[in-house]
Amino acid sequence: MNRLETSLESITFRQATLADKSVLLNLEQQVVEAERPFNSVIKSVAATYYDLDSLLTQENSYLMVAEDINSIIATGYVQIRASKKSLQHAEHGYLGFMYVAPQHRGLGINKLIMDKLIHWSRNQGVLDFYLDVYAQNDAAIKAYEKVGFEASMVEMKLHVSAE
Ligand SMILES: CC(C)(COP(=O)(O)OP(=O)(O)OC[C@H]1O[C@@H](n2cnc3c(N)ncnc32)[C@H](O)[C@@H]1OP(=O)(O)O)[C@@H](O)C(=O)NCCC(=O)NCCS
Repeated sequence: MNRLETSLESITFRQATLADKSVLLNLEQQVVEAERPFNSVIKSVAATYYDLDSLLTQENSYLMVAEDINSIIATGYVQIRASKKSLQHAEHGYLGFMYVAPQHRGLGINKLIMDKLIHWSRNQGVLDFYLDVYAQNDAAIKAYEKVGFEASMVEMKLHVSAE
């Protein structure tokens, strides 16, 4: 058995619950820290991204965690959202909170989580998926391309100084 198989063998996946909230709040900060180099206007303190209460309790979302010996080492959610009226699909899955602890990266754990979230969504008839990622986040973009995502909309931004 090679190292990759050995490493993944002990990893289990499950839906997160409210009991995980304090751990998830901590991991949310890891995502914020990972993205600071890509966005200089993220708040220096108390920057938060996710509505965890909704993601953990509402039926239109699935927040998955991966555990290694009862310790959460990776996260990811899909939330079924209404799509733009111009599109052929009425609903889509929005994916977020993609995080894998540094020592577990590059093993395909993110792909396993995304595949499972897409499977959950397909069972509900949702076939289209979107996510946001910083253009300079090469590791994340490569991981998403491995799942089949391709770049689409580009967000452009401008900061002007006060008059
Ligand atoms: C993005 C992230 C979730 C990927 O998790 P992962 O489990 O390592 O991803 P996977 O193993 O499924 O895919 C790994 C692929 O991503 C790429 N990749 C992973 N780590 C990389 C790194 N450090 N540098 C460059 N590419 C990397 C590789 O192409 C790799 O594919 P390969 O192993 O076939 O070469 C993880 O790197 C992470 O948590 N980053 C910090 C938080 C973050 O930026 N989240 C994304 C917010 S949009």
